Amino acid sequence: MTGVATDLGRVHSVGLNAFAADVVEVQANISSGLPGFYISGSTDTSLREAKERVRAAVNNSDLKFPEKRLTVALAPANLPKSGAGFDLAMAVAVLVATGQAPTTLLPGTVMIGELALDGRLRSTRGVLPLLLGARDAGFTRAVVPIDNVAEATLVEGIEIGGAYSLSDVVAWMAGNLVLDTVADGPGPSAAPAVPDMTDVVGQPAARHALEVAAAGAHHILMTGPPGIGKTMLACRLPGILPELDHAESLEVTAIHSVAGILPAHRPLVVVPPFVAPHHSASITSLLGGGTGMARPGAVSRAHRGVLFLDECAEMGTKVLDSLRQPLEEGIVRVARRDGTAVYPARFQLILAANPCPCAPVNDVDCVCTSIVRRRYLGKLSGPLMDRIDIRVQMEPPGNTALMTEQGESSALVSARVATARAAARDRWRDHGWLTNAEVPGSALRREYRLPPDTMRPIEAFLREGRITARGADRALRLAWTLTDLRGGTSPEADDVAQALMYRDRGNGR
Ligand SMILES: Nc1ncnc2c1ncn2[C@@H]1O[C@H](COP(=O)(O)OP(=O)(O)OP(=O)(O)O)[C@@H](O)[C@H]1O
Ligand SMILES: [Mg+2]
Ligand SMILES: [Zn+2]
Repeated sequence: MTGVATDLGRVHSVGLNAFAADVVEVQANISSGLPGFYISGSTDTSLREAKERVRAAVNNSDLKFPEKRLTVALAPANLPKSGAGFDLAMAVAVLVATGQAPTTLLPGTVMIGELALDGRLRSTRGVLPLLLGARDAGFTRAVVPIDNVAEATLVEGIEIGGAYSLSDVVAWMAGNLVLDTVADGPGPSAAPAVPDMTDVVGQPAARHALEVAAAGAHHILMTGPPGIGKTMLACRLPGILPELDHAESLEVTAIHSVAGILPAHRPLVVVPPFVAPHHSASITSLLGGGTGMARPGAVSRAHRGVLFLDECAEMGTKVLDSLRQPLEEGIVRVARRDGTAVYPARFQLILAANPCPCAPVNDVDCVCTSIVRRRYLGKLSGPLMDRIDIRVQMEPPGNTALMTEQGESSALVSARVATARAAARDRWRDHGWLTNAEVPGSALRREYRLPPDTMRPIEAFLREGRITARGADRALRLAWTLTDLRGGTSPEADDVAQALMYRDRGNGR
């Protein structure tokens, strides 16, 4: 090997602290004293296991692990660090300290990657946000595992080198190898197909409700007996939503990268995500968390997309109520061992439920007591329901003719949705709001206040206590969406009345 023996090796890496990337300097120091391997600097269990991986990877790469006293420090020491992404930087720091690798290419370079015992580099979670952080900190080059190259090249302004193994990295440092700059393997694969609206027969009211929800990014609840298309419709919502713009794509991709759910060869997420946790899901799996590097939960994986809670009346009240904070703020705070992590969580909520536990095809056959019935959907009442703008009660199709009626395709519906969304975006452009759902209540009540005649139905509802102040704001947002869908410029009394009807349905249960 060509390097000059030094006793200290320094290599830069990047660590994720919730959603923020921190540059970390990995220092390996050889000193006299009893042989041993120590890691210092606020590390968690997975990092302490790095010792075994680094030692084995070095030894299995035709390189020599020092039989001396070795201390690896991760600086700054007070930053919480976790995960296996520092393995490569640690191994290289050890090789630099022992003169087995030259330092020429180290300035301006960050190294990221987990090592397998045989020296291969394994793909690592969070490469996109890690490299965004490294670039913003002034680094110009990154060495990453080959499987992360596709994702890494999404970051502009930083040169990427993909390596298969520790030996590759050492050969590159010695000037004997050029690292891959494009992803290996089968190239970008197509995104999984979203099922089409044309499969859904009948249910015109629910189809329209879904279109309205898509146009304004409103939350929606569908209730009705089993087997009438609630789940079918919900799964088709992403297919009528506009694709993500580039900034949104990067944001969503970064979250999916941290969650470890990004496919290696299709790194950029362009279709709004659709996340459907089971009704037995825990609060942690919904909101995120866990030991070490807190994982984003379903609400964050659904960021800029759809969170679908099927059979939501089967979920616990506590679980459902845990959604209130992210719904209100568009972010979620996750408690961790060392403080709170904040993740983005702006999603469109879609709820589906049967009207009662026995759920007969025809409601008249219900065997539940009125108390049981009330309690069942009652779980959804109160503050959570207040945030749901659209409620549809679906009925079984009355006759078989309905079952042969072909529905419109997603392409047709999504074209109308796109037009309505564009109208909304233009109107709110100066304020930076993208959808009607984002418009603050104060704006609806002042700058965009509707004439008294138009407001009359809402005022009546407020007087009768049929709607809360927040509910009134939400009905106004919905009225704007109905206006955008019909190509109008400002809501009229009809739009307001229809918006109230959408909110009010299913309320009396
Ligand atoms: N409106 C519909 N158009 C076409 N097929 C339908 C429709 N409704 C139901 N089906 C058929 O029935 C199956 C079940 O529908 P789906 O899962 O959407 O029902 P659901 O309303 O969610 O019922 P559950 O309350 O039991 O969850 C679908 O896979 C489809 O084959
Ligand atoms: Mg269902
Ligand atoms: Zn029943």
